[in-house]
Amino acid sequence: MASALRRVLVIRAGEQASLAAGPLRVAGLDVHEYETAADLDGYSGLLAVDAEAVPHLLSQARAAGLPLLTGPLSPERLAAFAALVADSPAYRSAEGTRAFFSARAATWEEKFPDDGPAFAAAIAELAPVAGGTVLDAGCGTGRAMPLLREAVTAEGRVIGADLTPEMIASARERGRAAWGTLLIADVARLPLRDRAVDAVLAAGLLSHLPDPAAVLAELARIAAPGARLALFHPVGRAVLAARHGRRLTPADPRAERNLRPMLTGSGWSLIAYDDTDTRYLALAVRSR
Ligand SMILES: C[S@@+](CC[C@H](N)C(=O)[O-])C[C@H]1O[C@@H](n2cnc3c(N)ncnc32)[C@H](O)[C@@H]1O
Repeated sequence: MASALRRVLVIRAGEQASLAAGPLRVAGLDVHEYETAADLDGYSGLLAVDAEAVPHLLSQARAAGLPLLTGPLSPERLAAFAALVADSPAYRSAEGTRAFFSARAATWEEKFPDDGPAFAAAIAELAPVAGGTVLDAGCGTGRAMPLLREAVTAEGRVIGADLTPEMIASARERGRAAWGTLLIADVARLPLRDRAVDAVLAAGLLSHLPDPAAVLAELARIAAPGARLALFHPVGRAVLAARHGRRLTPADPRAERNLRPMLTGSGWSLIAYDDTDTRYLALAVRSR
């Protein structure tokens, strides 16, 4: 099966279609409603209220391990289904990520106009050193870059890297190239030499990665000994999940019990962890 985008196929939901579509769209999923369909190519999940009508799709979904929801709908069942889709490797593929964020790049910052103070506080705790090099991994429109430049001063270097070309284009339109270097790059394979950076900010990145441990190892490769890493989001995990109509799942890589061993295994040590309604901040230091 081709790698799927963040699309969910909704089959014969009839009157329940509107009940389904709303919460799934809030969860950031692109909902396609059909009477039937030949195959699940390009989809991250299947919702079929009348499952018996589409046995071929059911068997495809089961064979491919795609999230599947059948039978009567309820807000709880939809939230659990949306969480399963968001946890699936297909949803987090590079292709799915680009499709999702390219559509949101032009208005990204306008959607979150009040995040500035939370970013400033997180960057103060990351404490990039004056004259050092700081990477904004998954920089989006580069809204953190002016603050990072202020921290490293004119003597330092700021690099913003993002997988989604539309995000980098929007960063350029917003004048962010004046604050640092902008790169279209996958954080799993950065075009930077070993030990090149002294600090890494990754805001809103981790939950979008198909293989977070591999990315943490890549960030460790480009980090100098003693470099610091801030995994950050301007709201905590529970608030973010509720905003997207999802539930937190036990596999969430941002949860402390999952994150701590993943950081240790990839060359980082977790030194502070804060997950409240008003922010998510995990601070780590390059350990070896
Ligand atoms: C939730 S947005 C956050 C953007 C920005 N850090 C902010 O806080 O405004 C996540 C960003 O990560 C980027 N991203 C996701 N996976 C990536 C990857 N593998 N490599 C580079 N960027 C990635 C997306 O394109 C998107 O711009």
